[in-house]
Amino acid sequence: MANPKQAAGARAADLVEDGMAIGLGTGSTVAFLLERLAERIRREGLRVRGLPTSRRTEEAARALGIPLVTFDEVAALDLTIDGADEVDSRWNLIKGGGGALLREKIVAAASRSTTIVVGEEKLVPRLGRFPLPVEVVPFAARPVARALEALGCRAALRRDPAGAEFVTDEGHRILDCAFGRIDDPPALEAAIDRIPGVVESGIFVGLARRLVVGRADGRVEVLDRPPSA
Ligand code: 5RP
Repeated sequence: MANPKQAAGARAADLVEDGMAIGLGTGSTVAFLLERLAERIRREGLRVRGLPTSRRTEEAARALGIPLVTFDEVAALDLTIDGADEVDSRWNLIKGGGGALLREKIVAAASRSTTIVVGEEKLVPRLGRFPLPVEVVPFAARPVARALEALGCRAALRRDPAGAEFVTDEGHRILDCAFGRIDDPPALEAAIDRIPGVVESGIFVGLARRLVVGRADGRVEVLDRPPSA
């Protein structure tokens, strides 16, 4: 059986055009994008500049020889390619399973277009099966957790495999919030943003322009956002 993440990640690299400044997302699907992008740079002489959304992606891109830039050098990006934890039928996303949601949202917002690469298992009718990551300043973790629970979830402070508090690239913490079905993602995003101490939530609304979906049978679909989404 084909690996849907590999199929989607590699296919997305073919959407990159010569001369582009691209946002490089984070995660295991994006890892396949980076590999194929590096191959195109080597074989075709493709000229790209990548802006990574995490230290993890920065290290991987450097090791593969992908040229990198920062916001000191580029004001806007032509394209960002990133993964997601869930994509609903209106193309709302849950992101942040890898802990990079803050930089991911900043980079997507600075991009003319964002393409999301997923295996088909990430497509859901409604968001919420995957616990929603919310990035918070450490000082506020407890009051924010209580405020989030008042919105109808169970909030758990994320820990690393050794049991220590997970620390994001920006030095924040993450609360993973089990809401169950999320009926109105834009309203929930707005409500979470109003809580003092919240840095950003993993709900992404209106940012995905294109979806690259890897299927278990090896097929890959490239979908443009329908006007109804
Ligand atoms: C990281 C993310 C990732 O894009 C998301 O978790 C998907 O990861 P993967 O491709 O490994 O399933 O949002 O913060």
